Amino acid sequence: MAYFDVPDMEPQEFSLWQSLLDERTGLWLPESRKIFLTAALVRYIKDKKLSGYKALYSKLKKGDLTVLDWASLVDTLTVHETCYYREKNAIQFAVDYCKSKAIDGFKLQPDEPQHIQIWSVGCSTGEEVYTLAIEMDKLSYSLEESHGKKIYFGVTGVDISYPSLNVASEGRYSSKQLDSLPDAVVRCYFDKLEDDVYQVSDNIKRRTCFIQGNVFDMGKKIKQKFDVIFCQNVLIYFRNERKQQVVKQLKERLKPGGVLILGHGEVTSIEADDLKKVDNKLCLAYEYVGKA
Ligand SMILES: C[S@@+](CC[C@H](N)C(=O)[O-])C[C@H]1O[C@@H](n2cnc3c(N)ncnc32)[C@H](O)[C@@H]1O
Repeated sequence: MAYFDVPDMEPQEFSLWQSLLDERTGLWLPESRKIFLTAALVRYIKDKKLSGYKALYSKLKKGDLTVLDWASLVDTLTVHETCYYREKNAIQFAVDYCKSKAIDGFKLQPDEPQHIQIWSVGCSTGEEVYTLAIEMDKLSYSLEESHGKKIYFGVTGVDISYPSLNVASEGRYSSKQLDSLPDAVVRCYFDKLEDDVYQVSDNIKRRTCFIQGNVFDMGKKIKQKFDVIFCQNVLIYFRNERKQQVVKQLKERLKPGGVLILGHGEVTSIEADDLKKVDNKLCLAYEYVGKA
């Protein structure tokens, strides 16, 4: 049976592709997304003049495909939906946490500026990173007014998808994408380029950085430790065993007392004694109570 001109894939063969994607990206492709897989594979098969799914699978297994080919295949299978201020409660929680951490820091080290590092995991096209940076910038101004002291912050975005990261690092968005933002935020944090294009201001851009990487393999790419790890709408596409592996990796990048903020329903439970669930009804967060 064929869907348009995409040959059907036998259930056993589909299971092999499911396992391959799961093993390399954590992504668990449900049966309902089989057509996305076959449509994406058929494009590759034609492009590489291969005989069919089996030939492509064996090339992939043998490592005969370039990293970029594999990355763009994965890109067509992952969901990149995002927007500014998507998870308002989680964002508010992150900002409140940073505020109290900074105020505690001012008390402990009155002569030192406070440094706060945030990591957005699965940042897609950058809106989440810039939302966090804008909110941190607002916080920084208000703390300077109220306490006369500075905070320095950085927001790092990581994603497996090269095309999404290209958009993220450019930081250009249409007016429609900025629709949900108050006018004052657009005026203050974006430069209008043309009729419909807005550029994230340099002031915010210089507080951010974007890194391509797989959350299962971040050890070499991210060495620093974070105060906040923000991971929204990423783990929902993974099986439970994979979710736990990612949480374990993320935990290792948290400073003591730092928080991991997950999307609602992203995990049902966490298998880590040193992550303590924060009592907050509006968002799902865990504090790292382990050692440095
Ligand atoms: C639905 S978007 C979520 C974007 C943003 N966090 C939000 O909530 O609006 C999920 C992102 O996770 C990325 N992703 C999926 N698997 C990944 C992996 N193994 N490593 C890094 N990023 C991954 C995808 O490329 C995609 O851009």
